[in-house]
Amino acid sequence: MIRFIPEESHMKVLSAEFVLSAKAPAHYPPAVLPEIAFAGRSNVGKSSLINTLVKRKGLARTSNTPGRTQEINFFTVNNRFAFIDLPGYGYAKVPETIRRNWGPMVETYLRDRQTLRLVVLILDIRRDPSDEDHQLIEWLQHYRLPFLIALTKTDKVSRNQLVQRQRRIGEDLGPSPTTPVVSFSAKTGVGKDRLWREIKKAVVLDTGDNL
Ligand code: GTP
Ligand code: MG
Repeated sequence: MIRFIPEESHMKVLSAEFVLSAKAPAHYPPAVLPEIAFAGRSNVGKSSLINTLVKRKGLARTSNTPGRTQEINFFTVNNRFAFIDLPGYGYAKVPETIRRNWGPMVETYLRDRQTLRLVVLILDIRRDPSDEDHQLIEWLQHYRLPFLIALTKTDKVSRNQLVQRQRRIGEDLGPSPTTPVVSFSAKTGVGKDRLWREIKKAVVLDTGDNL
């Protein structure tokens, strides 16, 4: 009898725990586990994407109010690697003091964190990338940080629009053959396995063993 063994692309999440929120490196947890950071404009769905990956609805706090995440939030997954929920940019109504601190806070983390292995830059499939999205991409390239792009909220567009928007955003971002682009929805779970594959690759490179 032939048995079909499916390729193991999903990740068994045995534990997902909030560690702490911090603004400055002095308050980060010790740099021990490989880290995956999630970045993008305010309200784009960073916290929702994390919750979908780990299948815990309320792990990272989500909200209809943009600017919900204002500190760097550290989570551990399976005690083997860490997910970092970064505060979003580009929301005008966030108080001036917080907005002024955003750049240095996030840049310091991204630039100096030795255990950072991958940045997942999240874009809303319905919107063209903003100036800030472009700036962040340039910045990641400048510091040679490995990153991938997740186009989220794909459940909000039709199949036709999906293809058009993928193409449009691809053109907007320009040629970058090594950057994976993954279409995703926190609502339907589309793209989740692909994201896990990329995350696994980044972490396995680091630990050298199977997760
Ligand atoms: P900040 O922390 O404020 O920067 O926002 P965030 O990027 O963490 O976004 P969050 O996950 O809080 O989501 C913002 C809103 O978008 C919430 O109302 C979510 O329910 C909604 N949302 C996020 N992802 C999706 C998605 O894939 N599909 C749909 N339909 N809604 C989504
Ligand atoms: Mg958030």
